[in-house]
Amino acid sequence: MQADRPDIAAPGEPGAVVLSGLGRRFGNDWAVQPLDLRVARGEFLSLLGPSGCGKTTILRMIAGFLEPSCGSIRIDGQDVTDLPTERRGIGIVVQSYALFPSMNVFENVAFGLRVRRRPKQEITDRVQAALAQVGLSGFERRAPGQLSGGQRQRVALARAIVTEPALLLLDEPLSALDARIRAEMRAWLKELQHRLGITTVFVTHDQDEALSLSDRIVVMNAGRIEQCAPPRTIYERPATEFVARFVGVANLLSARVEECGRVSAAGIGTIPVDTGTCRTGDAVTLVLRPEAMTLTPGGAGRLVSVDYTGAASLCRVALGDQTLSVAFDSSVPAPEPGASVGLSIKPGAGYLMQKETPDADRR
Ligand SMILES: Nc1ncnc2c1ncn2[C@@H]1O[C@H](COP(=O)(O)OP(=O)(O)OP(=O)(O)O)[C@@H](O)[C@H]1O
Ligand SMILES: [Mg+2]
Repeated sequence: MQADRPDIAAPGEPGAVVLSGLGRRFGNDWAVQPLDLRVARGEFLSLLGPSGCGKTTILRMIAGFLEPSCGSIRIDGQDVTDLPTERRGIGIVVQSYALFPSMNVFENVAFGLRVRRRPKQEITDRVQAALAQVGLSGFERRAPGQLSGGQRQRVALARAIVTEPALLLLDEPLSALDARIRAEMRAWLKELQHRLGITTVFVTHDQDEALSLSDRIVVMNAGRIEQCAPPRTIYERPATEFVARFVGVANLLSARVEECGRVSAAGIGTIPVDTGTCRTGDAVTLVLRPEAMTLTPGGAGRLVSVDYTGAASLCRVALGDQTLSVAFDSSVPAPEPGASVGLSIKPGAGYLMQKETPDADRR
C-alpha cells in the first residue's frame, strides 16, 4: 500500500531519503534529538519551525556538511552517512546567495560539472538547459552583481539542478527576497519542482511558504518533530498545541465533553464537534481557527480591536478571561471597538485535542 503512504518510501527508490535515529549534539545540548524520517521519491517535504529548532542542522547532516552524533542517512537505499558531500547526489541552495561573485552566471552554474570534469560540449549543453529551466536563458555573461535577488536565487537553483541530483536541499532559499518577489518565486519554485519531479527537502520558518509548497510538512520544536503530515492535516488536525499555535492563528479553549459530539467551553456554551475517541466528562482543548467563528451583534463578548489586512482581516474579541481572534468579512463594515458582540461557531468547525499537561512525555 505504499502508494497511499507517502511517509513510507521504498528504501531503494531513486531520491528516497531515510533518516534513522539521526541526531546531533553540540556539547551537551541536542540540536536535533534522534529522529526517524522518510522522504518519498519526488516528494516536496518542508522542515518548519522557529529559529534554532534544528532545521538547518538536519539539512547539513543530509548534505554531508555536518557529522551526525548518532543514526544513519540513506539516499536511494544507499547508506551515505560516511560519504562525502560530492558522492551523495544532492543539489543544495542556501539562504544567502552563495554565488561566486567573480564568476559570471554561466561559470557559476557550470561549477559542479567542471569539478566532475565533464566534457566541454556537455557542460555548455547542460548549463544552457538548466538556465532555460529557471527562465534565465541569455543571462550567461552577467555577473552576480548585475542580477536582482530573485534572479540570483534562480541561478543558485540552476547550479543545484545542473548535476541532475537525486535530491534537492533548500535552506530558506526565498527568505532574503522582498514579499512580492518571494510570492512569485514560491509559485515558480513549486512549478519547477513539479516539472523536474525531484525529491526536495525545504527548510523554512514561514508557515505560509510551507503550507503552499509542501506535500508534507515536518513541524519541529526544540530539536524534536511535533508532527509530520500533509499541510491540510497540519492546519485542520494539529497534533499538539505547539503545532496549532505555530501554524496559522489558533484559539485554544479549555472545554469539557458533555456527550458524544458535544462540548462546552466558557463563554462559548455547548457546541457540536467531532469528539472522536474522547469520553463524556473528559477535559479537552478546543481549537477554533478564526474562520470557524462569525461575529453576531450584541452578546457577552466585547470587540477589542480590528486588524484590517484585506482578505484575511482579524478582530480580537474579549470573552470572559480570554481574548479570541475572529475572522471577519472585510467587505461589510466591522463593528466599532468596544461594541458588544457574540460569536457564532460554524457547525463542525472546531477540533478537539487531549489536554496537554506541561512537559508530560517530553523527557
Ligand atoms: N556549530 C554549532 N555549534 C554549537 N551550536 C550550534 C552549532 N550550529 C547550530 N547550533 C545550535 O543548534 C541549534 C539548532 O540550530 P539550527 O541552525 O539547526 O537552527 P534552525 O532551525 O536552522 O534556525 P534558523 O531558523 O534560525 O535558521 C541552535 O540552538 C544552534 O544554536
Ligand atoms: Mg537555519
